[in-house]
Amino acid sequence: MDRTLIICKPDAVERGLVGEILGRFERKGLVFAAAELRILDKETLARHYEEHQGKAFYDDLVAFMTRGPALVAVIEGVPDTWRVVRQMVGATDPLQAAPGTVRGDLGLQFTENLIHGSDSAESAEREISIFFPDLNRTGQP
Ligand code: RTP
Ligand code: MG
Repeated sequence: MDRTLIICKPDAVERGLVGEILGRFERKGLVFAAAELRILDKETLARHYEEHQGKAFYDDLVAFMTRGPALVAVIEGVPDTWRVVRQMVGATDPLQAAPGTVRGDLGLQFTENLIHGSDSAESAEREISIFFPDLNRTGQP
């Protein structure tokens, strides 16, 4: 699986930063295989954030992620694209994220940290199947 999933979270859409964020991946040389602006529902997020269900921040996370449209996209371009994207996304806490990363350059808040990126090849495959179940797995038409 050389594709990965990103979500420009509702704060990124509200702040008008989607073009800035997607442009970074384009300038890097990565390619979009799918992209759609959607309002995410609780059921979909429960599957996506399965590992976080029951944690103290889960309800706040879901309230945040459902409060407005998010831009969900699949990116490809190199083996282990997920790893390249995670490097460009930066650490979870924008105050700890390195300059040059999306969160390090554009964020200040922990939960509202602008973007999601799959954290492994297995997560990428699982998450793409949640958000784009009809996308051909090989990328061929
Ligand atoms: P993501 O899944 O969104 O790409 O972020 P991540 O891997 O860097 O971080 P993860 O541990 O998976 O957490 C998922 C998202 O939950 C919110 N969060 N808030 N307030 C808190 O303690 C807290 N912890 C996590 C963040 O939006 C984080 O990106
Ligand atoms: Mg995560």
